[in-house]
Amino acid sequence: MAVDLAERFGTPLYVYSGDGLVAHYAAFEAAVSELDCVVHYAVKANSSLGVLGLLAQQGAGADIVSGGEMKRALIAGIAPDKIVFSGVGKTDDEIRAALQAGIAQINAESATELRHISQIAAETKQQAAVALRVNVNVDPGSHAKISTGQRSTKFGIPVANGEAAMLYRQLCSDPNLIPRGLAVHIGSQLRKLDPFELAYQELLVLADMLRAEGLDVPMLDLGGGLGVDYEEDKTPDFDAYGQMVTRIFASRDYKVGFEPGRSIAADNGVFLTRTLFVKKGENKRFIIVDGAMNDLIRPTLYEAFHRIEPVGQPNPVIGLADIVGPVCETGDYLGQGRAMPAIAEGEILAVLSAGAYGAVMMSNYNTRPEAAEVMIHDEAVHVLRPRRNVKDLLKLEHNPFS
Ligand SMILES: Cc1ncc(COP(=O)(O)O)c(C=O)c1O
Repeated sequence: MAVDLAERFGTPLYVYSGDGLVAHYAAFEAAVSELDCVVHYAVKANSSLGVLGLLAQQGAGADIVSGGEMKRALIAGIAPDKIVFSGVGKTDDEIRAALQAGIAQINAESATELRHISQIAAETKQQAAVALRVNVNVDPGSHAKISTGQRSTKFGIPVANGEAAMLYRQLCSDPNLIPRGLAVHIGSQLRKLDPFELAYQELLVLADMLRAEGLDVPMLDLGGGLGVDYEEDKTPDFDAYGQMVTRIFASRDYKVGFEPGRSIAADNGVFLTRTLFVKKGENKRFIIVDGAMNDLIRPTLYEAFHRIEPVGQPNPVIGLADIVGPVCETGDYLGQGRAMPAIAEGEILAVLSAGAYGAVMMSNYNTRPEAAEVMIHDEAVHVLRPRRNVKDLLKLEHNPFS
């Protein structure tokens, strides 16, 4: 199947499993079903219109972080009242567009942002529904570049120094704003549940305190972050996560929101790449493939591990190899020091668990057109994004000196 797809659509190629996306989304929903809750899929993990469209059919809302992602979510059929706008730096234009579209809520992350939202709401003669994203200073135990919970990061409004409470009071007294509650997201790829629990308990303490003052705190947005097993073929432990949040929130009178991204999408995508050459270095074997860091940046950006497997018959391992792309950077690798069989020129390798934070981070570095994206769903193959060519890339540029 993988070889057929590689032949038909060329490589490098992202292949998603629609059935898998549906199953993972359903498993997440089932795990939190005892709660009065809404699930906003984190668009940033995989924002392909086809992925969003399929999740929209399952009833998913969207957690977005830009005006562009809002457009995608709306075009894919996600209703505005199921869209939450997160992120630390929204422009006035983005805020205006969000208010105009009538999305469910904006999660504000600073006093200045709150002021901008209020002013734009006043100018456009409407009220903006706003939650405050708070910083509870909890270390998620993940990679530094995807940890957002500590006070040293740019995310959220500090709870410890009283700023979050002060701003929530301000939000409640602002006639241009409708208080929606509090939000927290401490990071991505969390493999342990304790940091989530710590953060959620901190959030509850603050929410209870604000309610005790008579303020309206209808909703707690619990963010995303549930990790996946990149080393083994295992579904994320939705049930353990569900049991933990149910234990904390089932007896409490708060509506809760979730923003899962990676846990829905990662396992449901593979990245197919074709072997160009096998090169014997002085002390290493390099398998040079046509997929590179511009197609899948996670290995070099986060030292992330993805299993890499030849798609044909299993053959005996002959030694270690680095699987590298053609980009002119030593950091351009998909895997290092992997036990691999003999690999022939032209052979297809599958990079597994590449459905989240893969295609969304593609770039054109080295003037490499992006990989194509296809989805297999209900036994049919759908092209989500055709391969571009260099002509497409150059179309938007001008040379004033020619
Ligand atoms: C605010 C917010 N919500 C949700 C997510 C999704 O996280 P994950 O893909 O780890 O579930 C992110 C990503 O880091 C985020 O920044």
